[in-house]
Amino acid sequence: MRRIAHAGPVSPTMRAMTETSHTASASARTAPTEAAHDAWFDRLAARAQAGPSELSAVLAMASAGGDLVDFSGGFPDPGLYDTQLLGETAAKAIESRPEVALQYAPNYGLASLREVLRAEVSRTQAVVPGPDDLIVTSGGVDALTLICKAMLNPGDAVLVEAPSYLGAFSVFRSHDGVCVSMENDAHGLIPASIETAYAQARAQGAEPKVVYVIPDFQNPSGLRLDRERRREVVEISRRLGLLVLEDVAYRDLAFDGSYVDSLYELGPDVTVQVGTFSKTFTPGTRMGWAAGPATVIDAMAQAKTNTDQCAGALGQTILEAHITEGHYAASLPVLRSAYAARCQGLMDALDGALSSSAAWTVPAGGFFTWVDVPGVDTKALAALAIEEGVAFVPGAPFFADGRATSQLRMSFSRTPVSRMAEGAARLARAIERVR
Ligand SMILES: Cc1ncc(COP(=O)(O)O)c(C=O)c1O
Repeated sequence: MRRIAHAGPVSPTMRAMTETSHTASASARTAPTEAAHDAWFDRLAARAQAGPSELSAVLAMASAGGDLVDFSGGFPDPGLYDTQLLGETAAKAIESRPEVALQYAPNYGLASLREVLRAEVSRTQAVVPGPDDLIVTSGGVDALTLICKAMLNPGDAVLVEAPSYLGAFSVFRSHDGVCVSMENDAHGLIPASIETAYAQARAQGAEPKVVYVIPDFQNPSGLRLDRERRREVVEISRRLGLLVLEDVAYRDLAFDGSYVDSLYELGPDVTVQVGTFSKTFTPGTRMGWAAGPATVIDAMAQAKTNTDQCAGALGQTILEAHITEGHYAASLPVLRSAYAARCQGLMDALDGALSSSAAWTVPAGGFFTWVDVPGVDTKALAALAIEEGVAFVPGAPFFADGRATSQLRMSFSRTPVSRMAEGAARLARAIERVR
């Protein structure tokens, strides 16, 4: 079967998911024959023949349902949305501004929303993006995509944390970027490793352009970088002529509502900050932004004319009303306390089931904890865990160099606390089997 071919090794998570999707498509009457698939496969672009990314596998896993205790995807909990309010806001946006809400928007985003987002950025940061310093994007991944289009020539290097968000690696690579790993420790990115990775990129003939950092409740480690390290990241990057790409997807989700100075705040001359409302509003509206030097933002806006042209105006009008009417600010304490309770639930469950076999980070915000199971290859563990009825994301794809690892990511964002002890017990059984 060549329908799904993989350039690299197939993870157990991916295998489980591809098998599921075959079963589903086998019963579809209109499914093309295997021979037809093969003919088309040969005509696909080389980049598409690599097969689905690890990220697609994670997304598929998270929608699998059943009795699985699912700690895989970094999804917000839809149970936390005020659907009545959102419905009213959407209806109001369509009724009161149909010529805006139902029309194309400028590639930079609606002027009124850009104003609102400039103020929103400065709500927690001692910096106000200038009128030309901010673009509205279709979520966080779109912002990362536009940065690649604006900054990367084929073969240019992006320095990435180890571990870091695997979806970003996929975006960088799909623009012919080369990901070069920096070094992280128990406190997050080690700033001095920017210089080592820079030299390594140069030695392999790649021009280092961008340093990608997730300073707040990082995906996947759950760690928050301290202010001193942030200052060093900005200083070193400035000295080396690197653009700091700061991803603040989880910045608003400190359980205690606190904020640490952002990289953008510390170095607005060298930083593009990308943010998303997918974790704190809804991924369904695909809303995000990027703020940084006007020259880079303008290049991103030009690039957007070649992708989706503009973020959806309907989502923009809904988000604008949600923020200006005070609903966004009011929702944050509710989200923080809900995710804090989930996090505590998972910490308790892990304490109960895994204290002798694993160690994990204790996040102060966000969606994730990073678990180390010494002596265990977590790719192998993932397959057994699925058999036991629990899902997580094995650690390897979070490392750009694809190293084997005894680490794995668990998301607590939408797993009911009542299921967590059972999930941890199943994971403990899988660990016993693999050892
Ligand atoms: C660190 C980080 N950046 C960006 C994204 C993607 O954001 P969006 O879904 O808005 O594209 C995610 C989603 O998981 C993420 O964890």
